[in-house]
Amino acid sequence: MKFLRQAWYAAAWSEEVGKALLGRTILREPVVLFRDRDGLAAAIGGTCPHRFAPLARGKLSEGGISCPYHGLTFDRSGRCVRNPHGDHRIPKDAIVKSFPIAEKDTVIWIWMGDPARADAGQIPDFAPLNDEVTYTRTAGQVLDMPLRWDLMLDNLLDLSHAGFLHLGNLGSEAFSRGRMQVEKQGNRLWVNNLYPNGLPAPVFIGTGAIAPDVYVDYWVNVRWDPPGFMYFDAGITPAGHNRSEGVQLNSVQLLTPETPTSTHYFWRLFRSYRLQDASLTAAIEQMVSHAFHTEDEPMIAAVQERMGDRELMDMQPVMLGVDGGAMRARRILEDLIRKEDEPATTAAA
Ligand code: FES
Ligand SMILES: [Fe+2]
Repeated sequence: MKFLRQAWYAAAWSEEVGKALLGRTILREPVVLFRDRDGLAAAIGGTCPHRFAPLARGKLSEGGISCPYHGLTFDRSGRCVRNPHGDHRIPKDAIVKSFPIAEKDTVIWIWMGDPARADAGQIPDFAPLNDEVTYTRTAGQVLDMPLRWDLMLDNLLDLSHAGFLHLGNLGSEAFSRGRMQVEKQGNRLWVNNLYPNGLPAPVFIGTGAIAPDVYVDYWVNVRWDPPGFMYFDAGITPAGHNRSEGVQLNSVQLLTPETPTSTHYFWRLFRSYRLQDASLTAAIEQMVSHAFHTEDEPMIAAVQERMGDRELMDMQPVMLGVDGGAMRARRILEDLIRKEDEPATTAAA
C-alpha cells in the first residue's frame, strides 16, 4: 500500500515527549522523538548509521542522543556531534535524517516528506483541545493497532457499524436509521451523521448524561482532512430539541501508518458535562478503549486476514449508502498520492 509522503502526521501527544526518548515507526521509518535543552520537540531518524542500533534505546544528553551501542552522539539536526573513540574525528557520513516538527493543539506533528515543503500552516486546527473551560478532556491515548491504516479510516468514516458492533457502549439501535450527508470543501470532507429519535447509547447513560428512557437525537459530525485527521463533533439532545440543550462528547482521532499492516491510533475525548468529575473521565476512557480494543480491533483484523494483500477496490466490494464518506476519502487520497508520483511533483524523499 502506498502512503502520502508530502504530509504531516501525528507523531505523539505533547505529553509523551519529555526527558525520555520516544521511538516510533512512521511510514515504515523508525524515528526517535525527544526535547532539546530548550524544551523544543525534535525528531531524527531512529537508526544509527554505524551498526544500525536503535537510537531510541540510547541516552539523551546535553548535546543530543548518544547511541546505546558505541556512543556516537547525534544532535537535533541529525548530525553526529561526538565520537568517543580514537582521535574523535567525526566521519562525514555519520548523520541521520532530521524531520520537520510542529507542536500544536497538544500534538507533536511530523513531516515525512521533502523538508523544504513542510508548512505548519497546513496542519488542521484542533483548537478545542486547548479549551479547558468548555470541556474536560481525557489524557491523550495512543493505541498501536496491528491493522491496516486504510481499513481503520474506513471504520471511522462509516459509523453505521456502531449499531451492530458497539451496541453495548457507543452505538444504539438508531444507528441503522441514520442519515449521512457528505460535503467536500477542497480536500476536506464533512461526514455528518444524524441518528434521530432513539434510546441513548450506553456511553451516555452510564456516564450520567441522560436518563435511559429519554429518546434522543444523536449526532456525529466528522471533519476529515487528509491523510488521517478527524475531528468528531458528537452529542445527544432530547429528540426534537436544539443541540445546545444537549451534551457533547467530542473527540480527536488521528491515524498514522506505522507499517503497511499496522497503525498508530491517537485519540482524545472531551466532554461538555460533569466537567469536574475525574472518575467519569476515567470511566469514559475505559469504555471507549474497550470498544476499540475488543470490538473494532478484532473485527478489522478478521477483515484484514480475509483481504490478505489485496486492495479494497480490487475485491469489488458491494457498496452501501453508508460507504459514502469513506469512499470519497479514499478517492481524495488516491488522487493526492497519484499527484505525488507525477514526475513534475515527485520529491526527493
Ligand atoms: S551502532 Fe551506534 S555507535 Fe555503533
Ligand atoms: Fe468502531
